[in-house]
Amino acid sequence: MRIGVLTSGGDCPGLNAVIRSVVHRAVVDHGDDVIGFHDGWRGLLEADHRKLDLDAVAGVLATGGTILGSSRVRPEQLRDGVERARENVAALGLDAVIPIGGEGTLKAARLLSDAGLPIVGVPKTIDNDIASTDVTFGFDTAVGVATDALDRLKTTAESHQRVLIVEVMGRHTGWIALQSGMAAGAHAIVVPERPFSVDELTEVVGRRFAAGKRFAIVVVAEGAKPRPGAMDFETGGTDVYGHERFAGVARQLAVELERRLGKEARPVILGHVQRGGTPTAYDRVLATRFGWHAVEAAHGGAFGMMTALRGTDITLVPLAEAVEHLKTVPAERYAEVDCVL
Ligand code: F6P
Repeated sequence: MRIGVLTSGGDCPGLNAVIRSVVHRAVVDHGDDVIGFHDGWRGLLEADHRKLDLDAVAGVLATGGTILGSSRVRPEQLRDGVERARENVAALGLDAVIPIGGEGTLKAARLLSDAGLPIVGVPKTIDNDIASTDVTFGFDTAVGVATDALDRLKTTAESHQRVLIVEVMGRHTGWIALQSGMAAGAHAIVVPERPFSVDELTEVVGRRFAAGKRFAIVVVAEGAKPRPGAMDFETGGTDVYGHERFAGVARQLAVELERRLGKEARPVILGHVQRGGTPTAYDRVLATRFGWHAVEAAHGGAFGMMTALRGTDITLVPLAEAVEHLKTVPAERYAEVDCVL
């Protein structure tokens, strides 16, 4: 069999572990050929690729980023590129293509699969918002980085009697905010799923200072927004891919809370540090299992499917089901923490 693999969309710790696992399972166990496309879908559309053998993936298990490079492609570029993708898959003699990516990539994968291309998807995102899989690799690493940062920020917040508003990633969902906030014992957690009330947040933080505490840590997901009319709120418009651009909810909240509480407030935007560096053991294992199962799916002809974690088992789910909606944080999870607004 001849298999093509690519990584697309925002990178995430564990991508190299999947690529390595695909090569190990396919080349060593099945005697397949594997090629890697450069920079995501661009590589497939332009037939820009290289051979992936055991040497190519030696030593990459624990590395961050992606050895293949990644890019975002606008949906219309891909729609226009379906025929080119089909031609390139045929010309390269590929029996299967394994795209590893998040929501946008998996939607593109579904489009190509519906057009008859032999696709097996592998989900990835630090945001953990892909439906049909309990967890995506990258998430555990991101939560660890954010938790470590929150632990560190507590000491400086206390020294200066400040409110620190820590913005974590999470475009549409508050998984990283919830988990890191819980792990670090944050005093308030703000998630995109629930537009926040500035009055309520001011009250929660104010109560803490009134009780004699010297500092407060607020964790806010980048995609969180205030309830309409609650405060002047800048939004950042959209980027060249049509994705929402963030205008810095932490920065805006810091100004607002400082004004309302008369306490020093500082925004801390963790940003891409959450996506960089070595994956945790959990993410390496999940990524490795996804890679193994993606190759098995290709050999079994299970095209149009995506690898998924259900409980402790890896299963296959239709791409169509996986991209139907995002996996938001269920309301029951808020009830377990008393500080989600
Ligand atoms: O989807 C993963 C993610 O890290 C989001 O949390 C974040 O909003 C986005 O990617 C950032 O994307 P970019 O690297 O293109 O700015």
